[in-house]
Amino acid sequence: MEEYEIIGGVPLRGKILVAGSKNVALKVIIASLLTREKIVLRNIPDLSDLRVLYELIASFGAKLKRHHKTVTIEAKNLSPFNISIEKSKKLRASYMLIAPLLTRFDEVRIPNPGGDKIGARPIDRSLNGLKHLGASIKECDEGYICAVRNGLRGITHRFEKNTHTGTETLILAAALAKGKTVLENAACEPEVDDLIRFLNSLGANIKRVKERTIVINGVSKLHGGSYKIMPDRNEVVTFAIAAYVTKGDIFIPNAQKEYLTSFLAKLEEANCKWQERRKGLQFTHSVLPKATKLTTMPHPGFMTDWQGPWTLLMTQAKGNSITHETIYEDRFGYVGQLQKMGARISLFNPEIKNPEKLYNFNRTDNKNGSFHAVKISGPTMLTGTNLTIPDLRAGATLVLAALSAKGKSTLTGVEHIDRGYEDFDIRLKKLGAKIKRETI
Ligand code: EPU
Repeated sequence: MEEYEIIGGVPLRGKILVAGSKNVALKVIIASLLTREKIVLRNIPDLSDLRVLYELIASFGAKLKRHHKTVTIEAKNLSPFNISIEKSKKLRASYMLIAPLLTRFDEVRIPNPGGDKIGARPIDRSLNGLKHLGASIKECDEGYICAVRNGLRGITHRFEKNTHTGTETLILAAALAKGKTVLENAACEPEVDDLIRFLNSLGANIKRVKERTIVINGVSKLHGGSYKIMPDRNEVVTFAIAAYVTKGDIFIPNAQKEYLTSFLAKLEEANCKWQERRKGLQFTHSVLPKATKLTTMPHPGFMTDWQGPWTLLMTQAKGNSITHETIYEDRFGYVGQLQKMGARISLFNPEIKNPEKLYNFNRTDNKNGSFHAVKISGPTMLTGTNLTIPDLRAGATLVLAALSAKGKSTLTGVEHIDRGYEDFDIRLKKLGAKIKRETI
């Protein structure tokens, strides 16, 4: 097991490049199975989630080579008849393999996916879409989904609610289906559009015609190619908040402002100084932040992945703040840990008139005991202590909390961070952090 030891209270300063986006890397690797020709992917970060995916696809025949940030994939001959359920369970995105495999095989058997424990995370919206495209789908052996292709045909499909990977799964399946598919109420995260750009570079014909409508004209074949994926927006937000909570100053030359609009607007509301430079964005601590009320929303709203770091920032703001999570039903795994550090923060369920409409998740009755909001009173000086990381984004939040706190913190559960941040400790150290990684 690995742990971080952090001595807090040092302002982080300097320049840092963010890595390639995890949530694009996973999808372009899966999408590479749509063609038998060679694909070269660039700017791919070294993450444990990706290593699991490499092992998964190599286990059924994909040939992979990695050299620094470049990954070459050739999926000429695949035999995906016994996909590892243990490995699939480690990744939410693993179920997306169903789409490229259905374009290549008459029948496929896919393990149910996994990922962070942040709610039920079903995949009904993807499976309904695939059925609509013509596939027959049923739960077969325990823990597996079996799908029969039946010839995929273009359709107009409306997603009941937003689904990021669901939209991507349907795009992958429709790229090689017969005829035209129109996806309505489709997700519009920039990561979805990066996947579309990649597929079009291989010969696909996919266009976002309105903010939430995507048209896919099926083609008979995709060819090989080379593609550089976009920088990770989650990393930008993580390092930006690191600058504010440690009272530092961080410049990110490859931050893409156009994909961070809701975050930058919230920074302005909180009185946090940021600046666009000729290239990139600079985040500088100046004054005590102002308390805010935040509700997470699908893009272009404030992203759920950013609410943990934001809530931490609000522990340093003057007054009462609220963070309301509407995408996942249970994404406050870090709250108990912040309380241990002295944060004045409490969980609650806001009164909502129409929860079915507001919440992105299916189950809205709170009967499983989950909370959807927190109230934070600040500012509070946090104190270092022993912390347990429950999931990836909570992990980043707790590392930032420890960096901002007085004294020493020890964090276990570092493997969650390795899923989404490459060399997190090493890069933080370059900005001045006192952080040590140890095997225990
Ligand atoms: N949902 C359903 N049924 C479905 C699909 C989704 O009930 O068929 C619910 C989910 O349970 C969740 C909500 O709808 O409560 C949103 O799910 P969505 O499908 O949009 O997200 P996802 O596929 O679970 C991806 C990212 C997440 C990111 C969200 C929102 C990947 C691999 N994961 O998740 O990233 O938070 O979209 O943009 O792309 C992370 O990187 O830490 C992470 C969790």
